[in-house]
Amino acid sequence: MTVYYKGFPQSDRNEAIKMVNVDELEDRVRKVMPEAAYYYIASGSENEWTWRNNTTAFNHFQIVPRSLTNMDSPSTATQFMGMDLKKPIMICPIACHGIAHKDAEVATAQGAKAAGALFSSSTYANKSVEDIAAATGDSPKFFQLYLSKDWDFNKMVFDAVKSAGYKGIMLTVDALVSGYREANLRTNFTFPVPLDFFTRYVGAEGEGMSVAQMYANSAQKIGPADVAKIKEMSGLPVFVKGIMNAEDAYMAIGAGADGIVVSNHGGREIDTAPATIDMLPEITAAVNGRVPIILDSGVRRGSHVFKALALGADLVGIGRPFLYGLALGGAKGVESVINQINNEFKILMQLTGCKTVEDVKHADIRQINYTADNLPSNTDPSVRRAYPVTKENQMEGIQDAATGASKH
Ligand code: LAC
Repeated sequence: MTVYYKGFPQSDRNEAIKMVNVDELEDRVRKVMPEAAYYYIASGSENEWTWRNNTTAFNHFQIVPRSLTNMDSPSTATQFMGMDLKKPIMICPIACHGIAHKDAEVATAQGAKAAGALFSSSTYANKSVEDIAAATGDSPKFFQLYLSKDWDFNKMVFDAVKSAGYKGIMLTVDALVSGYREANLRTNFTFPVPLDFFTRYVGAEGEGMSVAQMYANSAQKIGPADVAKIKEMSGLPVFVKGIMNAEDAYMAIGAGADGIVVSNHGGREIDTAPATIDMLPEITAAVNGRVPIILDSGVRRGSHVFKALALGADLVGIGRPFLYGLALGGAKGVESVINQINNEFKILMQLTGCKTVEDVKHADIRQINYTADNLPSNTDPSVRRAYPVTKENQMEGIQDAATGASKH
């Protein structure tokens, strides 16, 4: 169940995970992962206001039920940049999946492939883009770029990514330095496993580096001309990742971006930055259909996916939850996490009469202000005591409580 890389424990599981929702995985992972590694993943910057509000702000929007819709069997399949996906979901780029599993990004990409979601690799991945591609063939893959100050390094990365068959680059522009992440300071976090591109080119392994040291290797000065230069040098579509208002969306598109990613880096950079879902409507209006939009940060529910699509996103990114799935169940655990969120999403498609992802983009969403809109349900184990598993309260023979779809 556990193997060790120079004393650092890594999971080697490959099994589906049972869960009622993806939130509960965080607690399960906390119990099995070294504290510093767990907090590197789980924490946000400063007081973690943005980290918390990324998720709760989805409650600012309401999904209006639709009736007499005369449809069943909704499909979550979608096309994105010429790629066929079974779900409108992207695995967000996160550094160093080796924190969670010995097979790191190879296992994550296998899970994404099995679920039919878009996989994305970080510049700070442990596994090479070649190894990931070898394990997953031509399944849909994007690459996240931390632009280096050294353009020879950048060129080497672009060439490797392109020949490995990746379909696009996401240039990160919201993390020029690390946000002030107190948990990393308290635990003295350093990357415990070598990072492929560092090992290959920089002459350092990445292993043993702090987050701040790692950021020091990447460019702080990034402007519109860099977008055009990356496009030209790589020959790949370039998305700008970390757009949080209309003005920057205009600028990215003006610079030649092929798409934008609405993201605040999962609440890890500017604390008190607004939640991504709250900024999405103005960005959607600014983009006006010219390029595709991906939204991430705080996504934990099928309803979050639904609302993001209805408010203008074409694809929705999942971050921390898939890494918890990787730690608890390897490739199959990643697949379970994607399926869990997608199953919740599919229930809402049925209940709103949305047969396709395109229909969801036109769903009826309202923004009514309610007070106390962030409270958990009365039956949530955090409010009530956890359900005891007894013979009396367990039902037999429930086939698919998750989708609720009847077979007749
Ligand atoms: C982080 C970087 C590496 O948020 O994306 O830790």
